[in-house]
Amino acid sequence: MSRFDTLAPQWDTNPVRAALGTGVADAMRREVPFAPDWRIMDFGAGTGLVTLRLLDSVAEVVAVDCSTGMLDVLDDKLSAAGLTQVTTHRVDLTRAAWDGEPVDAVVSSMTLHHIADVPALLARLVGAVKPGGWLALADLDAEDGSFHGPDVDDVHHQGFQRETMAAWLRAAGCGEVRVADAHRVTRPDVHGIPRTYGVFVAVGRR
Ligand SMILES: C[S@@+](CC[C@H](N)C(=O)[O-])C[C@H]1O[C@@H](n2cnc3c(N)ncnc32)[C@H](O)[C@@H]1O
Repeated sequence: MSRFDTLAPQWDTNPVRAALGTGVADAMRREVPFAPDWRIMDFGAGTGLVTLRLLDSVAEVVAVDCSTGMLDVLDDKLSAAGLTQVTTHRVDLTRAAWDGEPVDAVVSSMTLHHIADVPALLARLVGAVKPGGWLALADLDAEDGSFHGPDVDDVHHQGFQRETMAAWLRAAGCGEVRVADAHRVTRPDVHGIPRTYGVFVAVGRR
């Protein structure tokens, strides 16, 4: 059982996470020309805080996550709302390539800092996108480790330098690469001191 399986039942009760989902989805809509007939993937979709906020802009979202618990929460929300435009897939894309149909865009929020080898994962995500399709990746700006604290063992990056993420997207074969402000998270750090952390969205086109 992963840490996210344990956190899943309470995940949506934190208003900071809900505001982050709204801020990231709004930033993605500003940066990517989503269209009503698009099928997109949300990599690391979790309980769907970004997935559900993008649903008005596209036809269908493939919600990919390796945490059964997080996707169980999303499945419950989809059933309760009668939503059929989202399908959930319990897959770890660091271990297996996406074997479904290519999508019009891959989005992801706050997941890449949990991935050890981000360039390898980006190559896999680009491979899941149709030629001409888009990637929109939101994550923390480089921070001092106080966002998660020292006791969390599934964090591989203390945020990212924006130039590094842009270079990785270019190396993975993307053009039209840019990085924009997405949101600012204000919350207590591990010592209880209020802190503000920047969140960017890095965009590229296959
Ligand atoms: C911080 S949560 C973010 C969830 C959601 N995007 C949000 O903004 O609320 C990170 C998510 O990434 C998922 N994740 C981490 N590593 C993954 C991997 N290798 N493959 C698929 N999902 C992964 C976790 O299970 C978790 O649900």
